[in-house]
Amino acid sequence: MDLAIIGGTGLYAFPGLRNVARHTVSTPFGAPSGAIVSGELDGWRVAFLARHGEAHLLAPHRVNYRANVRALYDLGARRIIGVNAVGGIRADMGPRVLAVPEQIIDYTHGRFDSFSDVEGAKVEHVDFTEPYSAALRAALLAAARREGVSVVDGGCYGATQGPRLETRAEIVRMRRDGCDLVGMTGMPEAVLARELGIDYACLALVANWAAGCGDEASISLPEIFANLEAATVQVPPIIAALLAEKQGRAGQGKTD
Ligand code: HPA
Repeated sequence: MDLAIIGGTGLYAFPGLRNVARHTVSTPFGAPSGAIVSGELDGWRVAFLARHGEAHLLAPHRVNYRANVRALYDLGARRIIGVNAVGGIRADMGPRVLAVPEQIIDYTHGRFDSFSDVEGAKVEHVDFTEPYSAALRAALLAAARREGVSVVDGGCYGATQGPRLETRAEIVRMRRDGCDLVGMTGMPEAVLARELGIDYACLALVANWAAGCGDEASISLPEIFANLEAATVQVPPIIAALLAEKQGRAGQGKTD
């Protein structure tokens, strides 16, 4: 498997995959959010999983992150791009911006966030100083550049519990903490990938100004979806370019 993609809100299937197969996988941690769809993109093997399920029935705190990451691992994925809808906090992270964050602050609670959190498993203390893979981040940014898609390099992703959006005061606190983006699904996905030794990076799509950051008194759901739709169309070309980048054969596709 050359690459796996976990799609967030607004990305429920990956367009352009050929020779598609659907895998219903079970794991020691239960079932993933739905079938994993594998297929080929320019000859590269790609797996896609809709984080919230293909019909978006799973709220962020109900996603079985362990099953999702383990199922992709079992299918051979060693590189995962998590695509996440977020709210923008920093001034250059407004609606429709794409960003590849560099850091995480985790405000979630009550989620299973380790594979070692089971009876008899060896306790793991993984290094998480840099929560994302530097190599995969760099490849993602290079791919976006090559496609001419503007993507912000860096920023801190604050992971909140959801499913409600944040209060204005919570966002003030998060900004003070150093968060530039806020989303509900970035954790524990990133740390679970780290525990399995999977290279993981996040492609964040800004759907709205976080609470209190824009001009509006409240956050409009229809606007979130319109912004996400506009940002999501940029994702497949970036992924295709990333795959082509893999062996320095940009634009040629895989021949073997
Ligand atoms: N907060 C948390 N998660 C989000 C937001 C937000 O404002 N927008 C999209 N996902």
